[in-house]
Amino acid sequence: MLQTRHPQFLAIIPFLFLYTLTCSETATTTSIPQELHIGFSATAESSTTPFQAVLSDHSGNFSLGFLRVNQNQLALAVLHVASSEPFWVANPTHAASWSDTTRLFFNGSLVLSDPETRVSWSTATNNGDRVVLLNTSNLQVHDKGGTPLWQSFHFPANTLVQDQNFTSNMTLLSSNGIYSMRLGNDFMGLYENHDSLYWKRTPLGAKAEVKEGQGPIYARVNPEGYLGMYQTSDEKPADVQKFNTFQLTSSFLLLRLEPDGNLKGYYWDGSRWMLNYQAITEACELPRSCGSYGLCTPGGSGCSCLDNRTRFEPGGCFNDASSGDADLCSSEGIGGKSSYWVLRRTGVEAAHKELLRHVTTSSLAECEGLCQNNCSCWGALYSNETGFCYLLEYTIQTLLGTGDGSKVGYFKVKKEERRTKRVWIRVGVVVTVLVGVGVIIIGVGFCVTRWKKKRGVKEEDWGSPGPYKNLESASFRSIEMSNSNSANE
Ligand SMILES: *[C@@H]1O[C@H](CO)[C@@H](O)[C@H](O)[C@H]1NC(C)=O
Ligand SMILES: *[C@@H]1O[C@H](CO)[C@@H](O)[C@H](O)[C@H]1NC(C)=O
Ligand SMILES: *[C@@H]1O[C@H](CO)[C@@H](O)[C@H](O)[C@H]1NC(C)=O
Ligand SMILES: *[C@@H]1O[C@H](CO)[C@@H](O)[C@H](O)[C@H]1NC(C)=O
Ligand SMILES: *[C@@H]1O[C@H](CO)[C@@H](O)[C@H](O)[C@H]1NC(C)=O
Ligand SMILES: *[C@@H]1O[C@H](CO)[C@@H](O)[C@H](O)[C@H]1NC(C)=O
Ligand SMILES: *[C@@H]1O[C@H](CO)[C@@H](O)[C@H](O)[C@H]1NC(C)=O
Ligand SMILES: *[C@@H]1O[C@H](CO)[C@@H](O)[C@H](O)[C@H]1NC(C)=O
Repeated sequence: MLQTRHPQFLAIIPFLFLYTLTCSETATTTSIPQELHIGFSATAESSTTPFQAVLSDHSGNFSLGFLRVNQNQLALAVLHVASSEPFWVANPTHAASWSDTTRLFFNGSLVLSDPETRVSWSTATNNGDRVVLLNTSNLQVHDKGGTPLWQSFHFPANTLVQDQNFTSNMTLLSSNGIYSMRLGNDFMGLYENHDSLYWKRTPLGAKAEVKEGQGPIYARVNPEGYLGMYQTSDEKPADVQKFNTFQLTSSFLLLRLEPDGNLKGYYWDGSRWMLNYQAITEACELPRSCGSYGLCTPGGSGCSCLDNRTRFEPGGCFNDASSGDADLCSSEGIGGKSSYWVLRRTGVEAAHKELLRHVTTSSLAECEGLCQNNCSCWGALYSNETGFCYLLEYTIQTLLGTGDGSKVGYFKVKKEERRTKRVWIRVGVVVTVLVGVGVIIIGVGFCVTRWKKKRGVKEEDWGSPGPYKNLESASFRSIEMSNSNSANE
């Protein structure tokens, strides 16, 4: 199993076991076509299988079909059958609905159309003759002469398989849509929010140099066990990022941009996908390792909050403040009040400061001033040793704790009505619980008195505080639950 997945894929986990029991059998024995011809049409069946295959490759390793996501949504996907891992998704940012109005057909173009959600996706190959799935997982539309007019390898989602070329006009997008991988003129980069670079690999000139004017670079997972960067088609890599299986024979390799922003390589050992490569090996260097306004301290102490008065909870420290990528410009200065409050913390820096733009200022105050007066700035990091001032253009994510007192962070935290609303909800819960406990105590007391009167039981037999203790812990639990609920919002 690949480790982290998007919630929409999480939703299918419970079905996977069932699927392997019931469906994989039928998937190989009932005949799934190996070619689709003009006139082909299919709709999703309402039965609960997580995957409905419509096309298979010769080896039976891969299938094209409808993948059920988020219970009643549908993605057109190429699945690795044995692991149920999707390798390619037609339209990663828009799912269709799992309903009988959603139709996949081939009229020269392979078309997925869903009038309900108005999702419509097409290969736009009007003179296609047939659709085939290769044993590399590449889905192709061929013309009458067998020439590919369209291929899924040119439109990757979050996964590259071995031998698939990744060119400068392609993007890998993590399944949650937050992270992407792209090639620059002479480097490979991982980006958060489309344009904030957090990892960069420049070719080291392994067997060839990247030369100006020799055309764009491209990347490929080489079956010999590395991620290569190339510039010309002479097959000599300009850069080699070795996998653990470098120069070992292994069955099948893939590279995936995971929802945590890491780029990972895997190999198929015949029954499972085994981790083989990680672009980022330090947890603190993942852009959101401790969530919003989190502080990651390398060397084991893990996650805490930039605001030392806030207890760390998985998902971040001020969940409200980062909800939506709302900027501060739209709400700035309503009624003359600023829309944020300021948090400062010493001993922090950005994990990838070498990739951040900076200006040099003569003082911390000057650095903070640049941010304070600019509503598209969310924070500033200053080092009084170098005078470097880094301005943060996005809602604050995880920073690195260095313990170095010369590095100071200034952060804006958006004021939210929901923060105060949450406080009132808590007060409400406490009051309700107290009133409830009171009513029960009075009620129990009343009944007990009546019962004692009836039976003539002695006073001290009722000395045990048992019932009250239980109530106490129950009410404690309900408060805790309401806390964690609101934290997970
Ligand atoms: C195939 O169907 C699509 C969607 O209905 C349509 O836009 C396209 O023109 C059709 N192509 C041909 C060759 O009929
Ligand atoms: C795919 O099929 C080709 C022949 O069509 C074969 O040479 C090749 O080894 C196969 N590759 C895999 C990964 O099975
Ligand atoms: C992508 O770039 C390659 C060359 O790097 C080019 O051959 C191809 O046509 C481009 N594809 C698109 C869709 O622009
Ligand atoms: C990838 O690019 C190389 C070099 O241009 C080419 O020889 C190879 O056929 C391409 N692979 C695929 C799957 O398109
Ligand atoms: C493809 O199928 C062959 C034969 O069943 C198997 O040995 C191999 O592991 C499969 N490859 C993948 C990537 O599932
Ligand atoms: C939190 O930080 C402030 C200012 O940096 C400091 O004065 C205070 O002692 C810290 N509190 C705790 C509990 O560490
Ligand atoms: C505000 O900050 C943004 C991002 O750092 C920058 O592009 C812009 O030029 C700044 N505006 C002013 C008025 O300084
Ligand atoms: C930087 O700040 C630290 C902590 O406030 C202080 O000890 C140090 O002297 C300062 N260094 C410079 C060069 O100003």
